[in-house]
Amino acid sequence: MKAVVMNGIGGRDMLEYVERPDPVAGPGEALVEITFAGVNFMDIGIRQGMAWNELANPKILGVEGAGRVLAVGDGVEDTAVGERVAWVYAPGSYAQRIAIPATSLVPIPDTIDDRVAASVMMQGLTASHFATDFYAVQPGDTAFVHAAAGGLGLLLTQIIKLRGGHVIGRVSSHDKTAIATQAGADHVIVDTDGRFAEQALQLTDGDGVDVVYDGSGPTTFQGSLDVLRRSGTFCWYGPVLGGPGPIDIMSLPKSIKIGYAVFSDHIPTPELLRAHTAQLFDWITEGKLTVRIGGEYPLADAAQAHADMESRATTGKLLLVP
Ligand SMILES: NC(=O)c1ccc[n+]([C@@H]2O[C@H](COP(=O)([O-])OP(=O)(O)OC[C@H]3O[C@@H](n4cnc5c(N)ncnc54)[C@H](OP(=O)(O)O)[C@@H]3O)[C@@H](O)[C@H]2O)c1
Repeated sequence: MKAVVMNGIGGRDMLEYVERPDPVAGPGEALVEITFAGVNFMDIGIRQGMAWNELANPKILGVEGAGRVLAVGDGVEDTAVGERVAWVYAPGSYAQRIAIPATSLVPIPDTIDDRVAASVMMQGLTASHFATDFYAVQPGDTAFVHAAAGGLGLLLTQIIKLRGGHVIGRVSSHDKTAIATQAGADHVIVDTDGRFAEQALQLTDGDGVDVVYDGSGPTTFQGSLDVLRRSGTFCWYGPVLGGPGPIDIMSLPKSIKIGYAVFSDHIPTPELLRAHTAQLFDWITEGKLTVRIGGEYPLADAAQAHADMESRATTGKLLLVP
C-alpha cells in the first residue's frame, strides 16, 4: 500500500510518500481501507517531535480518518466486515490501509458521508469537549474563540451557538471574516498582534467574556487573560503553536479558572467515544452542525497540506485522499 511516513523529526522535507507492506488485523483489531484521512496540527507537532516519539521512525503520520472494514482479527465482536467506520487518536492514518484497535472505531451512520465523518473526529470531539465538558456554555454566555475560521474554531463556534451562547471570534485576515460569521459568530475581530482584547472589551461594555478558547500560541495568551470577565474561564489548548512558558500563579487575574483542555479526556472509554461522536453525527444529520472542508489533497501531497496549514491561509478542515 501507499503511505506517507516521517523519516525523522523536522520540517516538511521529513515526509515521504512510500510503499509499505499491507497491514494485517491482529487480535482485537480491524483492517480498514481508508477513504479520507484528516490533517491536524497534531500531525505537525508529531513531525516536530512534540509527541509520539516512542514510535520509531520512519512512522506513518496521521491520527484520524474514515473508511470501510476489510477484515477483523480474533476477538472483535462490535465491528463487522463492510462497516463504515471513523476513528481518532490512532497512529498511521496517512495511508491506504490501517490495522486499528476495534475499540477505537465508531460506526458512521448512513446519513453521514466518510468525508464529513473524517472531518469531525478530532476537531468535532475537541470542540464538544471545550463547550460542553471543560466549560459547559450556558445560554447568554459570551465566549471568545481564537482562529474562528479554522477547522476547530468553526465547529466550536457552532456548538457554543447551539447552547445559546454568543461568540466573539478572532481571525488573522479579513477574508476569513465571512466564514466565521456564517458559522454563527456574532462579532469577528481581525488581529494578529495580540490587540484583540481592547476590541472585545468594547463589545462587552468593559465586562469581558465568560470563557476564552485559546490555542493560538504565546502571542495571544496575555490578551486572552485581559479579555476575561471576573471569575471567567480560560480554556488553553494549543501545545503545537506554543505555550506561554512558566506562569506565576499569583500574577494571574484573581478568581479566574484556567486549564489545559485535551480532547482525549472527553473520550476516555470506547463508550464515551461512541456517545460523543453519535451526538456530533446527530447534530450534523439534523442540520445543526455544518462541516466546512477547506481542502482535499491526494495522499502524496501531505507535505503541501502541512505547508498550507502552517501558512495560516486555510479555513475549515483539510483532508487527504489515499
Ligand atoms: N488540546 C486539544 O485537545 C487539541 C485538539 C485539537 C487541536 N488542538 C490545537 O488546536 C489548534 C488548532 O489545530 P487544528 O488542527 O484543529 O487546526 P485548525 O483549527 O484548522 O487551525 C488552523 C488555524 O490555526 C491558526 N494558525 C495557524 N498557524 C498559526 C500560527 N503560526 N500562529 C497562530 N495561529 C495559527 C489559523 O487561524 P488564524 O490565522 O485565523 O489565527 C488557522 O485557521 C492547534 O494549536 C492544535 O494543537 C488541541
